[in-house]
Formats: sequence, C-alpha cells, structure tokens
Amino acid sequence: MSEVIVEQAGSVLEITFNRPEKKNALTRAMYEAVVTAFERVDADPSIRVALLTGAGDIFTSGNDIKDFQTRAATNEATHASPFLDALASLTKPLVGAVNGAAIGVGTTMLAHCDLVIAARSARFVMPFTSLGLVPEAASSLLFPRLVGHQRASALLLLGEPIDAATAHNWGFVNQVVPDTELMTTARAVAARLAALPPEAMRQTKALIKNGKTDVKGRIEEELVLFRQRLRSPEAAEAFQAFVEKRKPDFSRFG
Ligand code: COA
Repeated sequence: MSEVIVEQAGSVLEITFNRPEKKNALTRAMYEAVVTAFERVDADPSIRVALLTGAGDIFTSGNDIKDFQTRAATNEATHASPFLDALASLTKPLVGAVNGAAIGVGTTMLAHCDLVIAARSARFVMPFTSLGLVPEAASSLLFPRLVGHQRASALLLLGEPIDAATAHNWGFVNQVVPDTELMTTARAVAARLAALPPEAMRQTKALIKNGKTDVKGRIEEELVLFRQRLRSPEAAEAFQAFVEKRKPDFSRFG
C-alpha cells in the first residue's frame, strides 16, 4: 500500500498520509507524492478541493527524523522545500482533517489549509527548538498572526503542545468533532466548498492570501537557517537521542 494514498471522491481529492507503523512520519517520497497530488488538484478541472488527513491514530509525526540525520550527513537541501512551495502555491481550497497528533510540519502545514477540522484526539505541537531546529513553512510569521505573539512563543519557543479545544479557542481550527465524525464532517465541508463556483473560490482564496504576500519569502528565510540547524551539534544530539529512545542532553552547548 502506498505511503500517500491519493483518491478522488467526486470533485474532492483526498490525500492521506499512510505510514502508520512510523506514525506517518514524512519521507522524501511522501513529500513528492503530495506535491504531485497538489499539482493534479490545480491542473484538473474535475477537482475543486483538496483534503489532507492521516491514516491510523495520527495525522503525522512530522518530518522523518532519520531523514533529517541523513540530510545533515550528506549536506542535502531539505526535502520539504518543494512541498512547502506547492502548499503555499495551491490555488484551490485545502481542508485539513486532523486525527491524533500533528507534529512539526504536521502542524505548520495546517496554517496553509483554508479550513481545519480536528478530531477531539487531535493535538498540535511544533517541537523545533527541542530538536535544535527553527520553525518552517512560514510558521514563524503565520502563528504570531493567527494566535498572537505570546501564544506563538509558547508554541514555537517552548514547543508547548495544545489540544483540539485550545486550538479551537485560539482560532487555529474551525471545528472540533468526535473522532468517529471527523471524516464525515471534513468531507461535508469539502463538498460544500466543491459545490461553490470554482473561479470565485480561487479568486477569494487569492484575496485572503494577498495579505500574506510575505509567506514565500519567510519560507525561504526559515529554510536557510533550518538547513544550517540540521547540521548543528545541537540537532545531531536531538536526532541521536530520538533514535536511541533517550532524553537529549543539551548541557554541553554554550
Ligand atoms: N521520524 C522517524 N520515525 C518516527 C517518527 C519521526 N518523526 N515518529 C515516530 N517514528 C517511529 C518511531 O521511531 C517508532 O519506530 P520503531 O517502531 O522502529 O521504533 C515508530 O514510529 C512508532 O513510534 P513510537 O514513538 O514508538 O510511538 P508512540 O505512540 O510512543 O509516540 C509520537 C508517537 C509521534 C509521539 C513519537 O513517535 C514522537 O514523538 N515522534 C517524533 C515526533 C517529532 O519530533 N517529529 C519531528 C518534528 S520537527
């Protein structure tokens, strides 16, 4: 079974992260599959809306940490870069349906969704600093705007997790529903969007995003630092600690 399932249901393209044995951690191949799906969404007139979700008990545990280690070793650019570009460029509406944890890029990608439906089990965490990294996907720009400076600092500096109810209170998700109703609710929302006039949708989405013209610039700015951080001794310690299933020790860093 593919690690990203792409299925068209009526005029909605459903994109499902499907690597449950690794908590849907995102690999290069998975990012590439999502980029291809996004390209299909914008190119195919029979598709009007995209819907992102995760298989099993989690949305996604974020970037694959072993991939981070490999990239740091090979000095390779981050695999997420084309994905973030495609995410920020998508012209048709994107709905996020969040089941369980959304970690790292799992949460930051949701700031690019137009509507987010969360199951009660959803929780959101961006543990970049504890991995020796910096935020990505323009989250350092979008989260302060979405939730305010202090809350964004709790999320991005402390890496504090928040539950679905808090995310809803902070205006970061549209609706919280019982887990068993997540997909029916998300599909109903997607169907409502899909039934509306497509050109009006595209133009309205573009207008809403017009206030965020600096998003792509911020994505690039963050990625410059992110790539440096991937090769830092702090990140190396965090990644190795994850692989060895132990707590990282940052006490030797000045
Ligand atoms: N990258 C690589 N592998 C990951 C992963 C990730 N982001 N998240 C989970 N996995 C793997 C685990 O290593 C484990 O593999 P193993 O069975 O070969 O040991 C498997 O998925 C199951 O994860 P496990 O930690 O045993 O499940 P859990 O239910 O106890 O915890 C999480 C789930 C998601 C809370 C936990 O795995 C986690 O914190 N992952 C890291 C999240 C993260 O920091 N992501 C990076 C964000 S920038």
